[in-house]
Amino acid sequence: MPSSPQRRILVTSALPYANGHIHLGHLVEYIQTDVYVRFQRLRGQQAIYLCADDTHGTAIMIRARAEGRSERDLVAGMREAHLADFAGFQIAFDHYGSTDSPANRRLCAEIWQALRGRGLVVARQVQQLFDAAAGTFLADRFVKGTCPRCAAADQYGDNCEQCGATYAPADLVDPVSTLSGTRPEPRSAEHLFVTIEALHGFLDRWTRESGALDPRIANYLAGHFLGEPLRDWDVSRPAPYFGFEIPDAPGHFWYVWFDAPIGYLAATEEWCAAHGGTLADWWGRDSAAEIHHFIGKDITYFHTLFWPAMLEAAGLALPTKVRIHGFLTVNGQKMSKTRGTFLSARAYLDHLDPGMLRYYYAAKLSGGIDDIDLNLEEFTSKVNSDLVGKVVNLASRTARWLERSGLAARYPDDGGLFAMAAADGSAIAEAYEACDFARAMRTIMLAADRANAYVDAEQPWKLAKAGPEAAGRLQDVASVALNLFRQIAVYLAPVLPRLSEQAGTLVGGPIRSWEESQRPLAGLPVAGFTPLMQRVEPGQVEALLAAAREPAAEAKTTQHGGTTMDANTVGTDPAAAIEAEPLAAQCTIDDFTKVDLRVARIVAAEEVPEAKKLLKLTVSLGGDVTRTLFAGIKGFHAPESLVGRLVVVVANLAPRQMKFGTSEGMVVAASGAGAAGVYLLSPDAGALPGMRLR
Ligand code: MSP
Ligand code: ZN
Repeated sequence: MPSSPQRRILVTSALPYANGHIHLGHLVEYIQTDVYVRFQRLRGQQAIYLCADDTHGTAIMIRARAEGRSERDLVAGMREAHLADFAGFQIAFDHYGSTDSPANRRLCAEIWQALRGRGLVVARQVQQLFDAAAGTFLADRFVKGTCPRCAAADQYGDNCEQCGATYAPADLVDPVSTLSGTRPEPRSAEHLFVTIEALHGFLDRWTRESGALDPRIANYLAGHFLGEPLRDWDVSRPAPYFGFEIPDAPGHFWYVWFDAPIGYLAATEEWCAAHGGTLADWWGRDSAAEIHHFIGKDITYFHTLFWPAMLEAAGLALPTKVRIHGFLTVNGQKMSKTRGTFLSARAYLDHLDPGMLRYYYAAKLSGGIDDIDLNLEEFTSKVNSDLVGKVVNLASRTARWLERSGLAARYPDDGGLFAMAAADGSAIAEAYEACDFARAMRTIMLAADRANAYVDAEQPWKLAKAGPEAAGRLQDVASVALNLFRQIAVYLAPVLPRLSEQAGTLVGGPIRSWEESQRPLAGLPVAGFTPLMQRVEPGQVEALLAAAREPAAEAKTTQHGGTTMDANTVGTDPAAAIEAEPLAAQCTIDDFTKVDLRVARIVAAEEVPEAKKLLKLTVSLGGDVTRTLFAGIKGFHAPESLVGRLVVVVANLAPRQMKFGTSEGMVVAASGAGAAGVYLLSPDAGALPGMRLR
C-alpha cells in the first residue's frame, strides 16, 4: 500500500428510537456501518463510530404514560437493552450518546440561534386534532376514523388503506383518538417553521455536485422535492411533548426530527471530551475530516435535505457521504409481527451466532438501496457452506498437525496460492470501500475455494498416517493451509471480528493490519485448535421463529409496523407454495358448507411429552362449548404463548381416537413450500369465538 496520509473519518448510523427494541432490520444498518469502520481501521485510518439513542417525541411520551413511568426512566431502560443487543452483535461504537443530553440541548440552541439569525424561522397557526381526555395534540397515527373518500371504517389519520386516499386527520369522518377512545376536536396552536426554500439553490447544488449522494438519489430528490418550492418545515410542537423546550418560545418544543440529527454533533462533542479535540476538528467548515452517515432509505429526505440545510445555515461541515441502504425483508416479505417474522436482536442472540448474521448481511449488501432479503433457508446453507465448510474447515482440518511442530521454518512452495490471494487484496479493499461487501465476500470465498482444493489434493491426513518420513511434507502442507486460513481471516476481520481474534490466537497473534494479508508467517508456534464456529442446525432457526411468535411486550406500541401493504408489494410474493402444491379439484358451495369452520379461543395448551409434533389444546367456541384437540404445531409455538389467542377450527370433524386421547376437531394452519413452519390463522380484531367462516 502506498503510504498516504491517515484519513480521519467520522462515521454514524441513524440513531435508533428509544421506544422499541433493536430488530434484525435495524441490524442491516448497524452491522454494515460497523464493518465499514473496522475495515477503515484495519487499513490504518482513524475512524470513529458514533451513535446515540433517539429519545424524544410523542411515541415515547405515550408509551411512558401507558407503562406508568417517566420518559427518562423508560429511555434509560431501553438504552441498556440497546447497548446489550449491539454488544451481542459485536457492534463497537466509539461513543453512544443520547439525544436527551445536556450537550444536545446546548447544540440545538446554537443551531436554532443560527437559523433565527439568518431569518429562517417563522411562526404560523396550525390546526391539529386535540385529545382533551389525554390532554395532548394527536400525531396522525394516533387518530382513526372513517375515510372521507371511500367511507372505509377504522383508517389512520393520514391515509386510507382501502382506497389509498391521503388526507389530514381533521378530514376523517367520526375521528377517534386511539389514546383515549374519545372524539378529538380540532384546535389551533402556534408552530414554528424553518423556511428552507431560502436554501433551495444550495440544496440543488449540494445534492448534485458534492459527491455525497449516489446520482440516483440526487435524481430522486430532484424529481420529488427540488422540482418545486420547498415547503416550510414544521419544527416545533406545543406542550405537552417529551423533548427540549425552545428557549425563546416557552411552551414550544423542538420536534424530534430537529434534535435527532443534532445528536450526531452532541455525540462528537462527548467523544472529544473523553479523547481530546473539539467539535470543530470534525465539523468545522475547513476540517479535513470526512463525515459518513449510514441510513435507511425511509429517512432519506431528513438526511439529504433538512440536515444539510441546517448544517449549511449553522456554518458547519457537510457530510462527505450519505450512504443509503434498503430495507430488510424476511423470507421475501416485510417483517411482520402477525406473520411471526418480526425477529428481535435478542431472540436471534438466544439461538444463533452473531457472526453468522454479520457474514450473511455482508454477503448480501452491495452498497445500493435495494431491499435485502433474509431467507432463512439460504442463511442456513450459506453459513454452513461458506463459513463452516470453507473457512473454519480450512483450519480445523490442518491446525492440529502443527500443534507440536509449529509452522514450517520457511514458508513452503504453495504453487503461488498465497501470492494470488494477496494480489486480490486491493480488489477486496476497493469493494469494502464502496460498501460492496457482497463483492468482497465473493472474492474472499474464491480464495477459500482454492485453499480447500489445495488441501484436498495434498491430503494431509494421508501424510499423517505415512509415518516419520512424511512428517516434513505434512508440516509444509499444513503450514500452507494455515497461512491461507489466516490470510482469509485478515480479509474477513471487518465482518468477523471474533473469528479473526480466534485465528490470531491459533497462530501469529492478534490481527491488527490489512498488511498482514500480504506476507505469510513461518517458524511460529501453533496453539491447540478449538472449534471456531459450529454448523447451523435447522432446530436453531425454528427456535428463533418460535420465539418471534411469542407476543412481545412492546407489541402494542409498534402495531402499525408491518400491517400495511403498498401497491408495490402486490405480485412480488414468491410462488414456491402455489407451485409446489397446485389447487385442488373444483368443489361446490355445498361441499364447502359441509365443513363447519369456526373462530375459537385457545383456553389451555400443553405439551404432549410423548409426541414430537403435538400440542394438546382446549378451545372455546363461546359459552360453555369447548373442544379438546391435538394440533401438530409443537416447536412452532410455545404453549403458554397460545393461551388466549383466537384461531380457526374445523368444529364438526368426526372425533378421532389417538394414542394420547380423543381429538374433537382440528385447528387449521397454513404450511407449504417457501418457508418452513406452520402458521396459525387469526381473525381481524372484533371476531368472537363461535363465529362461522363463510
Ligand atoms: N430515530 C430515527 C433516526 C434518527 S437519525 C438522526 C429512526 N430510528 S429507527 O429506529 O426507526 O431506525 C434506525 C435505522 O434503522 C434507520 O436508518 C432505519 O432506516 C433503519 N431500519 C429500521 N428498520 C429497518 C429495516 N426493516 N430494514 C433495514 N433498515 C431498517 O429512523
Ligand atoms: Zn378510503
